[in-house]
Amino acid sequence: MSQLVFDESRARQMETLYRTRDVRRRRALVREALAARAGERVLDVGCGPGFFVEELLDEVGPDGAVVGVDVSPQMLAAAAQRCARHGNVDFRSADVTALPVEEAGFDAALCVQVLEYVGDPTAALAQMHRALRPGGRVVVWDVDWGTVSWHSAEPERMERVLRAWDAHLTHPSLPRTLGARLRAAGFAQVGAEGHVFATTALDPEAFGTGVVLKLVEEYVAGRPEVGPEQARAWAAEQRELGARGELFFACTQFCFTAVRER
Ligand SMILES: C[S@@+](CC[C@H](N)C(=O)[O-])C[C@H]1O[C@@H](n2cnc3c(N)ncnc32)[C@H](O)[C@@H]1O
Repeated sequence: MSQLVFDESRARQMETLYRTRDVRRRRALVREALAARAGERVLDVGCGPGFFVEELLDEVGPDGAVVGVDVSPQMLAAAAQRCARHGNVDFRSADVTALPVEEAGFDAALCVQVLEYVGDPTAALAQMHRALRPGGRVVVWDVDWGTVSWHSAEPERMERVLRAWDAHLTHPSLPRTLGARLRAAGFAQVGAEGHVFATTALDPEAFGTGVVLKLVEEYVAGRPEVGPEQARAWAAEQRELGARGELFFACTQFCFTAVRER
């Protein structure tokens, strides 16, 4: 098993995980940075199951529109179902490096936790630049998995698990090059904000223990350097640390903003 697969079962899993408190906090931060206004046309690149699309439809109102693009048919089906009551929405199946959208047709674009899975993120950013009108805004959000700070009494096993998890995507620390990539794609006014997601409890609503713990356990069980037994033992330790009040998880996620000036 290599890169995470966005199939039917992942779409079902995301229906639950994307309702948790920290993922809702992340959506609120992205929407605040995007500042979509009534009447605007917004492009969601790698829209997944469509949580952002649904929320943005409320923000742009009946005179605006939202287009969601994703490569996974299962994600697009979930997104279309979520937004079925709206007429001003369109979902398109495509790779982010070949967006099937008109030149300069959008006021704003967002791309949340997608580019870290993409081979050529700069090409995808150039596509978003092309899709925006002059003055149009982009918000790009990715996790720097290299910032994960996770307590364990077995630090070597923790390190092995985290390095095995790095194989689930193409760029484990994409935020480190995102500013340069945005400028290379033609964007100006590049800004970046880091947001720490931390927990000291086995909290099902927290990013670390409600989302990452489950995904990592499942993923590294299929990796040769860890395997099912070690994965189970690693996750069991976290549950025990949680029960004793000794758990600690933190990681930094980055929100980049930029503008197409001309
Ligand atoms: C972690 S999910 C994020 C979904 C959504 N942006 C959100 O935050 O709610 C990543 C999404 O990116 C999509 N994706 C990954 N690589 C892609 C590519 N090359 N082209 C289009 N979509 C892609 C996946 O299918 C998946 O739906």
